[in-house]
Amino acid sequence: MAVSVPAPPLAARLRSLLFVPGDRPDRMEKAALLDADALILDLEDSVTLAAKPVARTAVAAFLAAPRRQLLFVRINPLDSGLAEADLAAVLDTKPDGIVLPKAEGGASLAALDQHLSGETMILPIATETPAAVFALGSYGGVTPRLCGLTWGAEDLPAAIGASTSREEDGSYTAPYQLARSLTLFGAHTAGVPAIETVYPDFRDLDGLAAYTARGRRDGFTGMMAIHPSQVPVINAAFSPSADEIARAQAIIDLFAANPGAGALSLDGKMIDAPHLKAAKAILARA
Ligand code: COA
Ligand code: MG
Repeated sequence: MAVSVPAPPLAARLRSLLFVPGDRPDRMEKAALLDADALILDLEDSVTLAAKPVARTAVAAFLAAPRRQLLFVRINPLDSGLAEADLAAVLDTKPDGIVLPKAEGGASLAALDQHLSGETMILPIATETPAAVFALGSYGGVTPRLCGLTWGAEDLPAAIGASTSREEDGSYTAPYQLARSLTLFGAHTAGVPAIETVYPDFRDLDGLAAYTARGRRDGFTGMMAIHPSQVPVINAAFSPSADEIARAQAIIDLFAANPGAGALSLDGKMIDAPHLKAAKAILARA
């Protein structure tokens, strides 16, 4: 059984994480004014090979300035031959977290952990290779730096020669529903927040709102963004509403008033231990 690691406090603040290409200092400055809980300064897929050195310098400079948000850096994959230079460029400026693409379970986590010091957290993108899918249950008990688990629906189809991860209506095909579900359960097995993947159609805010609602319903507590317009939608979706807070408080009050009872009735419906647990989780996030 995986050893459970207490979730670090910063994880509770991860509703929205906005990607910004590492070679776009102008966009980093704009992103710093947004209400994203975290920025992910990207050195991987949004930066060409030729631009990696300039991006490393720009990201390090941005990290060295005063921060308004948590700042994560997405490095290149551990086996890319680029990750060492990425880490060497940014670690002195103490990023709040490293996003690890193409992670393949606890072994990848341990390998990255060796390079880190201080408070720097790790957020793996855990479904980008076929092997990664079989390691989704192995992230727990490796390092207290693990601050969440997220997934991707773009790299895996490319890796296996699939033409797409989506049906015509935008919903995931069966293989990517599986990857998403295993990420959700893998995160909760490891005792860390499950973070939804990006919604690429950044002009479709209604579609995004529906997508975030499904993520929240299923047990994700945050989501990555690619565009500023997505941030308020994601923050709203992953913040408990006034109604939810009131109902959670009512459940907690009812159990407190009936200390001997395991099951009670509220508004004509049965509530028991899982409802109490969910209510406490909502108040913790409020
Ligand atoms: N961070 C900060 N600012 C951003 C931004 C981002 N991720 N994406 C867009 N903006 C800014 C633009 O600079 C522009 O600012 P302005 O109005 O002051 O000029 C404004 O938001 C509107 O941008 P828009 O024209 O709608 O987008 P675009 O067509 O220029 O760019 C993308 C679209 C997808 C290329 C861009 O959103 C982006 O780079 N996203 C992140 C990509 C990434 O990191 N991918 C890797 C992870 S999947
Ligand atoms: Mg990718």
